[in-house]
Amino acid sequence: MQEIVPPPPPVVRNEFETVQALFQQYVVPSYGRFELAFTRGSGSEVWDVHGRRYLDLGGGIAVNCLGHAHPEITEALVTQSRRLIHISNLYYHEPQGRLAQALVRLIGPGRVFFANSGGEANEGLFKLARRFGHDEGRFEILTAVNSFHGRTLAGIAATGQERFRKGFEPTTPGFRHVPFNDLEAARAALSPATVAILVEGVQGEGGITPATPDYLLGLRRLCDEKKLLLLMDGVQCGHFRTGRFQSFQRILEGVPGGEGFLPDGISMAKSLGGGFPIGAFWVRAQAHGVGLSELLGPGLHATTYGGTPLACAVALRVLEVIERDRLADNARQIGAWLKAELERLTARFPGVLTGVRGLGLMIGFELAPKERIPALASGEKTAAAQFVDRLHQAGVLTVPAGPQIIRLLPALNLTRAQTAEGVAAIEAVAGAVA
Ligand SMILES: Cc1ncc(COP(=O)(O)O)c(C=O)c1O
Repeated sequence: MQEIVPPPPPVVRNEFETVQALFQQYVVPSYGRFELAFTRGSGSEVWDVHGRRYLDLGGGIAVNCLGHAHPEITEALVTQSRRLIHISNLYYHEPQGRLAQALVRLIGPGRVFFANSGGEANEGLFKLARRFGHDEGRFEILTAVNSFHGRTLAGIAATGQERFRKGFEPTTPGFRHVPFNDLEAARAALSPATVAILVEGVQGEGGITPATPDYLLGLRRLCDEKKLLLLMDGVQCGHFRTGRFQSFQRILEGVPGGEGFLPDGISMAKSLGGGFPIGAFWVRAQAHGVGLSELLGPGLHATTYGGTPLACAVALRVLEVIERDRLADNARQIGAWLKAELERLTARFPGVLTGVRGLGLMIGFELAPKERIPALASGEKTAAAQFVDRLHQAGVLTVPAGPQIIRLLPALNLTRAQTAEGVAAIEAVAGAVA
């Protein structure tokens, strides 16, 4: 029988060009990829097809919270896959129940719905909000300028950055954007149709901008006053990255009035599975006198792969390791030192580095405008992409956010020595382009 699609050529040579050629021919070119191909990793180290080692400070964009090839993730995967990989959500299984219980313990009274990605988790929150406001004809969700909420059609409508919507109009209705950290702007933007406000605790793709305590507390008051849902996107900033399970817990630490703060819904993904795909949203038990966590009843929301035994067993193990090894404390301590070191570099190279921000191991450093950095001015790529390229040459992986910001979102078990290695590389690159 003749095959319709010819079999792919075997990858006989473990070389970059061979791998890249496969992508050039067969993979939808929707990503701007760097000229690197990787074969394996261990902890915060990864090796490319040439056998060259890199220090991974990007963490798969805040995903590999235990680093690469963590033996306990492998063990959980192997053990659970021998028992039960998937069973339909028509039935019960223990790992999903246990993971939901663990997330409720870490956040507050409520329930959890499991999905597969951050974008899908946010879609669930959008549906929750629409269901909440449905009988009153309210459906509009306010989100923040510079936010990022995923690449689904509703996700790009929610995202407060025009460039993600361009070319995909008409935009899904029901979303409006207001300046971040500006409570009065949110208040002024409310309409009779508004049903919810959605924010990231720390804007990630937007360039690592934490919400202020006053903003979060003010949003909570505003939502209580106007019968709105306060929704938080914890996809990138959640899962202990900031030093607490959710970023609002860190931001409101020790802030008067912050003790009892809870949003009405939180989306999660990325580090939740430590590299294994899983997303989720938590929904508060009660809001505005309604049993919010009961709103999405049988038949109203579903996804085939949501919360499989395999995904949940891995996520449970990830949580167990983070708590046992006190990785939230590590994120806080290492993050504080890393931030201080980057501030030192900012003072040393003010013409190149203009600022550092973030919490725990969610850190962004800002570069001067490209035209002001002589060595980068004539390059075609943005300043951030060129700086990231140079860090690759120095053996370190980082993630650009927009034209001028570089993100560090490493594993939560990053060591002091690895951090020092990363700082030395950034110092060397900053010195070279200054
Ligand atoms: C804050 C935030 N929300 C949602 C998403 C979308 O998640 P996913 O890519 O898993 O759909 C991302 C991804 O970067 C994110 O950073």
